[in-house]
Amino acid sequence: MQEFRDRVAVVTGAASGIGLAMAERFAAEGMKVVMADVEAEALAIAAEGLKSKGAVILASRTDVSKPEQLELLADKVYETFGAAHVLCNNAGVVTIGLTWEHTLADWEWVIGVNLWGVINGVRAFVPRMLAGGDEGHIVNTASMAGLTTAPFMSIYDVTKHGVVALSESLYKEFTVTGAKLGVSVLCPGLISTNIMSSKRNRPAALDDEGRFGAGARQFEANLAAGVTTGYPPSEVARQVYEGIRDNQFYIVPAQDEVKAGIARRANDLLELRNPTMA
Ligand SMILES: NC(=O)c1ccc[n+]([C@@H]2O[C@H](COP(=O)([O-])OP(=O)(O)OC[C@H]3O[C@@H](n4cnc5c(N)ncnc54)[C@H](O)[C@@H]3O)[C@@H](O)[C@H]2O)c1
Repeated sequence: MQEFRDRVAVVTGAASGIGLAMAERFAAEGMKVVMADVEAEALAIAAEGLKSKGAVILASRTDVSKPEQLELLADKVYETFGAAHVLCNNAGVVTIGLTWEHTLADWEWVIGVNLWGVINGVRAFVPRMLAGGDEGHIVNTASMAGLTTAPFMSIYDVTKHGVVALSESLYKEFTVTGAKLGVSVLCPGLISTNIMSSKRNRPAALDDEGRFGAGARQFEANLAAGVTTGYPPSEVARQVYEGIRDNQFYIVPAQDEVKAGIARRANDLLELRNPTMA
């Protein structure tokens, strides 16, 4: 996709972190930006911040785990702007623990946001984007956790591997059907955002969190320290913008740490070796 000015970008999880940085970047490129997020107050503040710089913003409180809310969002976007050209299915949450100690609520919450959120976004927007006939691009946020695996991360890893698989399928489907849409999967390493306080958006109906021991808590603390000193979201947003422009499928910020993990896993697979511990 080459033309950005006056085109419409939709970003989920746009009130914070990577999503907010993408919204800022798209606005700086002269796009109209739809900011969708479940956290109403943070969304209002983020949207006002961009509007005060002259950006054209539509803010929508949307829970991506709910298919009907994505349909409503698409209705609103098409009523307001008549089109969507870039769709970033980015909202995501994390929970840390042992696979067998997670509650059903842990599984439902994280799969609902991270995997169903992407499925719901694709189902609500892609048919309308195809029917619109303009060129466009989908960006699905996965993670290095979609290309590798770690202990205490099984729910997150399952969702992010799912997002990578869905995105690769979508790429092949757009190719065989001659669609004017591109697709990228975003697989960042550690990025400095609010992801480690995901619980702030956990619904009351799914608040039954697993109870985990010292190993999981230590892993969580180490991960939080890595995120705090991680790569800046604005740099991720720059790579996303360039990835859309250059039709690059895999967008991998913080590439060195991610590549090391990919190589370990790929070599284990090729040599039928048991998984190497990082
Ligand atoms: N930070 C990292 O190190 C990292 C690395 C790889 C991938 N990611 C992925 O990047 C994406 C963005 O996360 P981030 O790091 O910017 O974290 P963040 O917490 O700063 O931002 C996530 C946003 O998603 C929103 N959100 C949560 N649940 C939602 C729901 N049900 N519906 C709509 N919005 C919802 C939150 O309110 C928040 O604004 C996620 O998919 C995450 O898994 C993050």
